Amino acid sequence: MSIGQDRLKRRMARGVEFLGSEVAILGGAMSWVSERNLVAAISNAGGFGVIACGAMTPELLDAEIAGTKALTGKPFGVNLITMHPQLFDLIAVCAKHQVGHVVLAGGLPPAGSLDAIKANGAKLICFAPALSLAKKLIRSGVDALVVEGMEAGGHIGPVSTSVLAQEILPAVADQVPVFVAGGIGRGEAIAGYLDMGAAGVQLGTRFVCATESIAHANFKKAFIRASARDAVASVQIDPRLPVIPVRALKNAGSELFTAKQREVAQALDEGRIEMGEAQLQIEHYWAGALRRAVIDGDVEHGSVMAGQSVGMVAREEPVAGIIATLMEEAAQALERRAA
Ligand SMILES: Cc1cc2nc3c(=O)[nH]c(=O)nc-3n(C[C@H](O)[C@H](O)[C@H](O)COP(=O)(O)O)c2cc1C
Repeated sequence: MSIGQDRLKRRMARGVEFLGSEVAILGGAMSWVSERNLVAAISNAGGFGVIACGAMTPELLDAEIAGTKALTGKPFGVNLITMHPQLFDLIAVCAKHQVGHVVLAGGLPPAGSLDAIKANGAKLICFAPALSLAKKLIRSGVDALVVEGMEAGGHIGPVSTSVLAQEILPAVADQVPVFVAGGIGRGEAIAGYLDMGAAGVQLGTRFVCATESIAHANFKKAFIRASARDAVASVQIDPRLPVIPVRALKNAGSELFTAKQREVAQALDEGRIEMGEAQLQIEHYWAGALRRAVIDGDVEHGSVMAGQSVGMVAREEPVAGIIATLMEEAAQALERRAA
């Protein structure tokens, strides 16, 4: 083992212990993309795969977890969205399968969900979009945090990964493992965040074009062609609409989303729907649009969610190759620290 590889191993030790994987790299859950094949491939390659439950019913999640278990004996996690109407049934499905790690996305854990997840011995991972929320989540008993910046693909907050990492890592990294996400395309960046105190990292965009990913060939082609500046955040047209910005490759679908927002805003104006229903309609729109792009291959009218690291996705290759490259780049960066 080289000096760099040894340094990398030691810096990842805490994350590896927490996840039960070989390397502290999480495959960020991506709706429609992170299903059994990609999740199992990431875990089999030594990383930590996470199933994206998204809008799945408890029955579908049940089948997806069973399917993933059939493909890997390694640990993997499940990502649940807090606003799912059957959140507690989904938690029960995870418990039934003794899923070791549950990631809760989409806001603070709703009342009772933290206890329900931890009651069965699962570890709970939450997103911390600000330092104050990171501290609050730790006080409430969360086991680990993901700090995700606005460079990421999918739903994003307003602050960059580099700023969140600087604000949050020094303040809380000694209390719980913190995984940094958003905009990571190469191992040098992984080495940097580990040096700052991160227990590991989470990548989404970089795994979309894995050979094992079931994303449609058109979706993968769009990723391979795109550069960083093509992955843009959606625009919120009405301040009343609680629209969380989404980063995706710009296309005709971006325009359709603006039209959808206008339609929902008008329905609100006319008192035809409540605010909660408005938010749900917007979320359903995204779920449908993402499916059209990932599964059907309609990359013009669907939503091609992608992070800014998309410019560093150059080809389709097996997950094991992607992880090996990232680890090699990180080890070489750490090796150079000696000079
Ligand atoms: C196509 C796509 C779909 C995503 N869907 C979800 C999701 O359902 N739930 C979630 O928590 N994060 C989702 N994400 C975010 C990823 O889990 C991950 O945190 C993010 O991709 C990391 O940033 P990166 O894209 O710069 O690597 C999605 C990202 C992409 C690119």
